[in-house]
Amino acid sequence: MESATIIQVENLNKSFPNKGKPEPVLQHISFHIERGEIISILGQSGCGKTTLLNIIGGFEKPDQGRVLFDGKVVERPSRRCVMLFQHYGLLPWRSVLKNVELGLESLKLAPKERRDRAFDYLKLVGLHENADRFPNELSGGMQQRVAIARALALQPEVILMDEPFAALDTFNRYYLQDELLRLQAKEKTTIVLVTHDIDEAVYLSDRVFMMSANPGQIHRELKIQNSRPRDRGHSDFQYYRKIILEEFHFHHPTSPIDYHI
Ligand SMILES: Nc1ncnc2c1ncn2[C@@H]1O[C@H](COP(=O)(O)OP(=O)(O)OP(=O)(O)O)[C@@H](O)[C@H]1O
Ligand SMILES: [Mg+2]
Repeated sequence: MESATIIQVENLNKSFPNKGKPEPVLQHISFHIERGEIISILGQSGCGKTTLLNIIGGFEKPDQGRVLFDGKVVERPSRRCVMLFQHYGLLPWRSVLKNVELGLESLKLAPKERRDRAFDYLKLVGLHENADRFPNELSGGMQQRVAIARALALQPEVILMDEPFAALDTFNRYYLQDELLRLQAKEKTTIVLVTHDIDEAVYLSDRVFMMSANPGQIHRELKIQNSRPRDRGHSDFQYYRKIILEEFHFHHPTSPIDYHI
């Protein structure tokens, strides 16, 4: 039987050299993620969120500890666990469709099969009519949807997202958050999302991991019990928002935090 746990993070420690000396960035990070869960990692700039995501995705090695994906130690990036980078990573000289096909080129698919699959995922994000256009002809939000389509086309079990909506205006952000939830419900993908945005974390997540900085640690985990679809104006929503705000004020009484409120 398939185990419910898909990712196990076990006692990670990571330092980076700073002015010739190793500076601890992540310390004693441990958690489990279940299949199909949506997890947000929330914390101020520089606390180690991207580093943590890179280690989970196999792009970076921890100094100590390990990450297990489906019970096996992660040593390199895998197609089963894809990373959606903040700046989309679209190739400007390739059409939208060819950009989505890009990730599929390492699979042994016939060209038609590859094109059809890419087109299906463009349809899923509502951009099939833009298949032949180039990234610079699209808005930022549309480009981000192309990047999401490319990640989903690989049919990964896990998507790691590093502030995927940070550059978008509120309307596009809300729209894409809903789009992501719709796709996630359909594909049952596990999502680990790094964000600065408290509302986004409460709206999307089953659990929110709150990180403190220097060195980066998870100082609190908050389970969001609200049923879906969630209402941003509901009192429960405000309740979770308040807990998170208080948690960060308590831990960082003097530092300004980018709350996006
Ligand atoms: N390759 C590297 N070499 C040296 N230091 C690094 C490297 N990558 C990250 N760091 C340092 O590690 C710390 C955490 O960086 P990281 O990018 O993980 O933060 P973050 O939480 O993602 O921040 P932000 O919200 O601004 O993206 C920072 O102090 C950063 O300077
Ligand atoms: Mg980062």
